[in-house]
Amino acid sequence: MKIGSLDIGHKLFLAPMAEVTDSSFRRICKEQGAGITFTQMVSAEGVIKNNFESLRILSFNRNEKPIGVQVLGNDPSILGEAAKEISRLKPDLIDLNCGCPVDKVTTNNMGSALLDDPKMIGKIIRKMADNAGDVPISVKLRLGKDRSHINIFETAKAVEDSGGSLVFVHGRARNDKYETEPEWSWIGKVKELVKIPVVGNGSIFFPQDVKKMKDETGCDSVMVARGALGNPFIFSRYNKLVETGEDPGITEINVVKEVLLKHINSIESEFGEVVALDRAKKQTVWYLKDYPGINFLLEKVFGLRNFDSLRQLINDHTAKITSGEYGESDKVDVINKFKKKVLFWLTEDKTQIQG
Ligand SMILES: Cc1cc2nc3c(=O)[nH]c(=O)nc-3n(C[C@H](O)[C@H](O)[C@H](O)COP(=O)(O)O)c2cc1C
Repeated sequence: MKIGSLDIGHKLFLAPMAEVTDSSFRRICKEQGAGITFTQMVSAEGVIKNNFESLRILSFNRNEKPIGVQVLGNDPSILGEAAKEISRLKPDLIDLNCGCPVDKVTTNNMGSALLDDPKMIGKIIRKMADNAGDVPISVKLRLGKDRSHINIFETAKAVEDSGGSLVFVHGRARNDKYETEPEWSWIGKVKELVKIPVVGNGSIFFPQDVKKMKDETGCDSVMVARGALGNPFIFSRYNKLVETGEDPGITEINVVKEVLLKHINSIESEFGEVVALDRAKKQTVWYLKDYPGINFLLEKVFGLRNFDSLRQLINDHTAKITSGEYGESDKVDVINKFKKKVLFWLTEDKTQIQG
């Protein structure tokens, strides 16, 4: 799979995820074999106004490449300017967000609200492509505003005809929640329609899902979102599956512990204490969600006040998993809860973060 002059071979994309795809997570995913990672969405206006938070989200290290930057906006001139600024940093891809369904984004006519206006998407992409030099421009699309108004052919064609180099197709509509299964067949139909590469997205949790999506749709590559949360191992497992024909299977708990500790140490250095601890707790739950004792962990983890006690809990908890202390009965069906609500332990109103 080629993105401009970059060839990522059979490797996969890590999806942009707000409050998740920070530098620490991106580096862990790259080490585990992701082909290219993404920043979370960044406001185009914030970029051109030098807004501190926007520039923080946008920043990445050379050694993180290949990397894509995702922008949010609705004004062709502002997005063109932002693409120019961002292209100076030499990312491997600049993506326009046309998927975010969150109210505060769509009421400002951004994210998935743009799906209603394929012509405007075309105008924006033309400006971005004209201003980004040799950095390719992509768009992350959903099927349409709802399942009775699917317009993915119009939007994907607008991207291609306006100088876009790649489309991501998330097989859900704007008003779909996570419990609605994505319709992958649309990914295949878009692949038949356009000549630019098509990358599929939606409910990829196992390496076998990637194979299935590729076989069923003929897409050029696949983008993983929730399936990578607490599970950067999905990338190495998929690479092994392609290279040897065998999936190494669920990651051994000792390896999970090592990678998790490395990950939270990196978060501790990347952010100030309050933000860092919150992110590290979230990651801890995600990494350990598929192992016995998850209910016990959920009870303990959110009350912790510092990194040392979090590290101690991770060590104690994983030792108990290894010694079989929890037993299979302490394993709950988290994966199904997780598929409906990513942050399943939070109250309803905080759970619908998806793009
Ligand atoms: C926590 C979280 C944050 C997200 N933030 C973004 C974002 O900033 N930009 C975006 O285009 N999509 C965002 N998404 C959507 C994902 O990139 C992806 O399209 C969606 O989750 C479907 O893939 P999945 O079913 O494999 O999770 C987010 C998803 C999650 C779970």
